Amino acid sequence: MDMEEHVAKRYSQGAEQVEPSLCCPVSYPAELLAMLPQEIIDKDYGCGNPSLYVQPGDTVLDLGSGGGKVCYMAAQLVGTGGRVIGVDMNDDMLALSRKYQGEIAAKLGEDRVVFHKGRIQDLALSLDKVEEYLRHQPVSTLDQLNEFLAWQRDMRQNAPMIADNSVDLVISNCVLNLVNEEEKRQLVQEIYRVVKPGGRIAISDIVCDELPPEALKKDPHLWSGCISGAFQEREMITAFAQVGFSAVAFSEWQAAPWQVVEGIEFRSVTLTAVKHPRHQESDRGHAVIYRGPFAVVEDEQGRRFPAGERVAVSTESFRQLGDGAYGDAFIRLTPPRLASPTPFDLPSGSRRPATVTRGGHTALVIGKTSCC
Ligand SMILES: C[S@@+](CC[C@H](N)C(=O)[O-])C[C@H]1O[C@@H](n2cnc3c(N)ncnc32)[C@H](O)[C@@H]1O
Repeated sequence: MDMEEHVAKRYSQGAEQVEPSLCCPVSYPAELLAMLPQEIIDKDYGCGNPSLYVQPGDTVLDLGSGGGKVCYMAAQLVGTGGRVIGVDMNDDMLALSRKYQGEIAAKLGEDRVVFHKGRIQDLALSLDKVEEYLRHQPVSTLDQLNEFLAWQRDMRQNAPMIADNSVDLVISNCVLNLVNEEEKRQLVQEIYRVVKPGGRIAISDIVCDELPPEALKKDPHLWSGCISGAFQEREMITAFAQVGFSAVAFSEWQAAPWQVVEGIEFRSVTLTAVKHPRHQESDRGHAVIYRGPFAVVEDEQGRRFPAGERVAVSTESFRQLGDGAYGDAFIRLTPPRLASPTPFDLPSGSRRPATVTRGGHTALVIGKTSCC
């Protein structure tokens, strides 16, 4: 059995009967649990509460949705304009989450939640559709296999389960650690692919303070129990920054470890980040000043902001640095009269002379600015 089969077996059992040792206890807001059936509340295998990051109107994707608890909590938070998509590879977990879909839809007044069968490292391919294909066209010859592979390529490209740039917020609760090590990079790339430009992620998961030795990684019980497949803490931040996410941060960090195995601490965290649009940047004379207290900060793209320096930024960066993901780290300066847009081609960290923004608008507080 490979690790994925061990994981499937373990969570089939967890869907059948509550397994208290799977993942750490979390307290969720009582008002969001009020409309959930007790069975879903009990079969909770999460380690955090990513629903804290859901906003009204969001399209939310929950990776490894299990019994559907976080999806049904998010469905209340997104409101009438929003929707929630849960993806899980396990039939028994999907059956549990789908069992209450009608009941919750009746309570909400509409059906805002859908559950798909799929592997979260391959969000373009619906396993519901794969099963349907195989029911009608079983594969037993090489020609049939080639046809099946061509069909998969076509589905991924032309009818993906989760389309490119289609999700406002990707959430997950204690699942990324269960994905095979060799597919973790693809998983993070898939998350980046499906988030809309300007969209966000909030991933609750287990991290470890040191990489576990091979013997621990090969232990199916520790792997399927959300332990030995955990990202090392620095590795998790780097993995999301490398695919292009910005403002990657541990927004939650459990002080006491959930488990200590062979001296290595495993704890719950929630990682948040945003996908900033990548397009031609324009220069209209904006600047930002990093407030401190550090001497200098550097972002995922290598842009450096020395404390107190007026650093020239594009119009797009000016907006992004004020959209809340960076708190109130930056004072944002708009020139009194905006220059006509030209391509932004200054070297990273270039100083903007004070004369450019003097007498213009200064934004000191967090919040979206409808600049320009
Ligand atoms: C620890 S449980 C968490 C379930 C749920 N998020 C919660 O908070 O209760 C992990 C879930 O992820 C699913 N899962 C594990 N690996 C997966 C993968 N590669 N693709 C899709 N689902 C996966 C399991 O079937 C299981 O339902």
